[in-house]
Amino acid sequence: MTGSAYLLGEPSYDADLTRVERGTAMGELLRRYWHPVGLSGDAGGRPRRVRILGEDLILFRDGEGTPGLVYPRCCHRGTDLYYGKVEQKGIRCCYHGWLFGPEGHCLDMPVEPQGGENFKPKVRQPWYPLEERYGLIFAYMGPPDLQPLLSRFELLEEIGEGEFIEADDSGVGTGGGAIAPCNWLQHYENVMDPLHVPILHDGFSGTQFVGPMGIIPEVRYETFAHGVRSYQYRDLGDGRALNRITETVLPNVRVVASPRLVPGAAESIGWTLPLDSTTYRIYTAARVKERAAIRRQRSKPGGKVWAEMTEQEHQDYPGDWEAQVGQGEITYHSEEHLGESDRGLLMLRGMLRRELKKVAEGQNPIGLTRTPGQELITCKAGNWFEQF
Ligand code: FES
Ligand SMILES: [Fe+2]
Repeated sequence: MTGSAYLLGEPSYDADLTRVERGTAMGELLRRYWHPVGLSGDAGGRPRRVRILGEDLILFRDGEGTPGLVYPRCCHRGTDLYYGKVEQKGIRCCYHGWLFGPEGHCLDMPVEPQGGENFKPKVRQPWYPLEERYGLIFAYMGPPDLQPLLSRFELLEEIGEGEFIEADDSGVGTGGGAIAPCNWLQHYENVMDPLHVPILHDGFSGTQFVGPMGIIPEVRYETFAHGVRSYQYRDLGDGRALNRITETVLPNVRVVASPRLVPGAAESIGWTLPLDSTTYRIYTAARVKERAAIRRQRSKPGGKVWAEMTEQEHQDYPGDWEAQVGQGEITYHSEEHLGESDRGLLMLRGMLRRELKKVAEGQNPIGLTRTPGQELITCKAGNWFEQF
């Protein structure tokens, strides 16, 4: 075994697990679930371009307050609805003025005879259903007859005294910018990689999550009704122990307790949204007591926020962003050598593969329901301190 790089083969990645376009294995699994496509405030009177799962779409909110998400090419002759005007009842194409409601119905054709009275019912602008919850707008982009209920999370439903729900799209959790230039799974499987924490965030960077998080924990993993869970046990040496629990709710939700070790249940839920196969964005909703509380959780490697760091500081204080974006646009699975410490990641990939297979075989994947009341998801994630 010389190890010469000259002997490396052609690298490859697992396309079924990573690619998200319509028609791909993961793209079809992801399309069975609701996904956040923006903050509530992103939908307004000016059409906004959004990219989700490799699809370019137009988001708006009509004058009656109903948000809409439509295919960008007008179904008349293809002009971009980005240049449309939002009105009381929908969005009007700039070219010949066809007006489309939030569900794509054509409501007016000003230059057709009688306003298109007979023609209007025959056309419909392609659209996706939306729902608003937790300050976020969620879209369902899958087969219309399989639309499930939008999940609720107990963590965000039971609000304490003085608390409210805040949503954030600034990339808290990416460790850097709002939109990360790499495959979503590189982030998502990191959630089941608790053993990088004492190295990357403490032993190496030396400035992130220092203290108890620097102790190498005893880790165990288990699967549960919605995904994979890890328990990270640390004896703090002062008569206390920390049992930190982290969860992945399939297919792409992360439930991670405060890295500042705030005791108790996790405060936030994060959606790892693939914009396409090589970029993702994290939307977060959290129980907070002050505005902008989520953004303030960001670590400051070397005392600076990520965006202000120099190239040398990125080398001196690398964090999740540097580690995951550093794996490349889509990491080469063919070059990996997975060890015992990668067990959580292997369990997560295994579970995702099982769900891909279900979809391919025409079965329903994990965690979906159409029975009201059953859409509530209960999590255990948190920083659980014990005295002994
Ligand atoms: S292209 Fe949109 S109305 Fe003609
Ligand atoms: Fe991390």
